Amino acid sequence: MENKRGSWGSNFGFLMAAVGSAVGLGNIWGFPYKMGSNGGFAFLLVYLLLAAFVGVAVMLGELAMGRKTGQSTVGAYKQLSEKFVFVGYFGTLCGFLILSFYSVLGGMVLRYAIGYLIAMFGGDGWAGQGTGFFGWLLYDSGSMLLFYALFSIITLVIVMGGVKGGIEKFSSVAMPALAALLLIIIIYIACQPGAVDGYKFVFKPNFEPLKNDFFGVLKTAAGQMFFSLSLGMGVMATYGSYLDKKENLQKNAVIIPFFDTLIALMAACAVMPACAAFGVDFGAGPGLLFASMQTVFANMGGFIGNLMGFLFYFLVLIAAVTSSISLLEGTVAVLNDRNIAKGKEPARKKNSLIIAGLIFIVGIPVALDALGSGGAAVPAPYELLGFTVEDLGAGLVPVAIDCWLDLYDCLSEGIFMPLGAMIMSILIGWVWGTKLVKEEVEAGGHTYKAAKFFEICFKFIAPIGLLIVLIAQIQSFF
Ligand code: PFF
Repeated sequence: MENKRGSWGSNFGFLMAAVGSAVGLGNIWGFPYKMGSNGGFAFLLVYLLLAAFVGVAVMLGELAMGRKTGQSTVGAYKQLSEKFVFVGYFGTLCGFLILSFYSVLGGMVLRYAIGYLIAMFGGDGWAGQGTGFFGWLLYDSGSMLLFYALFSIITLVIVMGGVKGGIEKFSSVAMPALAALLLIIIIYIACQPGAVDGYKFVFKPNFEPLKNDFFGVLKTAAGQMFFSLSLGMGVMATYGSYLDKKENLQKNAVIIPFFDTLIALMAACAVMPACAAFGVDFGAGPGLLFASMQTVFANMGGFIGNLMGFLFYFLVLIAAVTSSISLLEGTVAVLNDRNIAKGKEPARKKNSLIIAGLIFIVGIPVALDALGSGGAAVPAPYELLGFTVEDLGAGLVPVAIDCWLDLYDCLSEGIFMPLGAMIMSILIGWVWGTKLVKEEVEAGGHTYKAAKFFEICFKFIAPIGLLIVLIAQIQSFF
């Protein structure tokens, strides 16, 4: 029986939901190109060290906080130390902002999947624009809003379905499907001549970037790791709060980053070799997911190109939805818990609707500013401040204000997320004591095997690492 708050049906269901939250646009879009342009294998090493020494510990901390208190992020801080409840609000706000731009991107992915579906049946899925579709779509306010709304509704409906009946049910089917689709694409791409250059770009060890700009690489890897593992905004605490006491937290805290990294590496083995095999520049950076990949499938040609295109965007869509539902749940759960604390019914459906509606409104400028390309339906932040597109081209516009997406991203991923995670590690390491985590890990009769390791992580490595990230992030925005 689900209690009022909701709970997972099984540890497998929890893992699918948590890995689903972690695996998202960050893995398939961000990871391959960041790895490729930051030293390949050298970047991977830094990433793995950070994931092992900071990511796993923060993951365990969040899961333990949630399960111990049986509360979502705000409630958890309230119970553990009232005066730090602001960290819980930070996290919630962060998830709120991320979801607003994440859903705009999710909507675009949905549009591409539909485009390929139409093309598979012989229609023109690209509004007569061919591979110039991306530039057209950004300025087509109607499509941008429509698909943003559709993606938001998918997210909303799943979250309304509840923890077990919505999130777990969806993730348990979607995640294995995603892995299967990714494998099909990897194998197909591996058989294409020229793919090998893509593997080289991603994996070739190049220690130059580490020598030239160590902090830059560290910051990129750390930012990517936090975003990719869905840490620092209470999402994992919320998911942990629905987990049965008998389940092994320590093992789960390792499994989630393991699969997240595995899927990121698999994505790198699909995306970059595909670019290499089909003559597309893989250094495209953020444009990779849309413009470059469309050219890849166009060059692949014929029915197979459309089929592969559809499978690819469908899998990205799955990845984006399993992440967006976790972001929405993180905020909805705060309201549910507040109602329960007042002795009322949680009112999940109503809360989901209110929060999703608010997030939608906040994201509208992201959908309508053509990602800052200038002259769109809604001016980008830099235009509002009197800068021009020429200033943007000349590099005079700070990253934080070059479009609404980057503004929200800098605030959330850049500031709130590392700040929240840093304060949490300090609280666990020094204020509440690592005892909190120990008790929770041992709750189901499991031994806390890596107790010493985690203590060092919470006390020293995570706070120092996060401080460096925070400083580097803030510096890079201006
Ligand atoms: N981890 C997701 C990704 O890699 O795309 C994004 C994300 C989901 C970030 C949930 C934060 C979060 F709470």
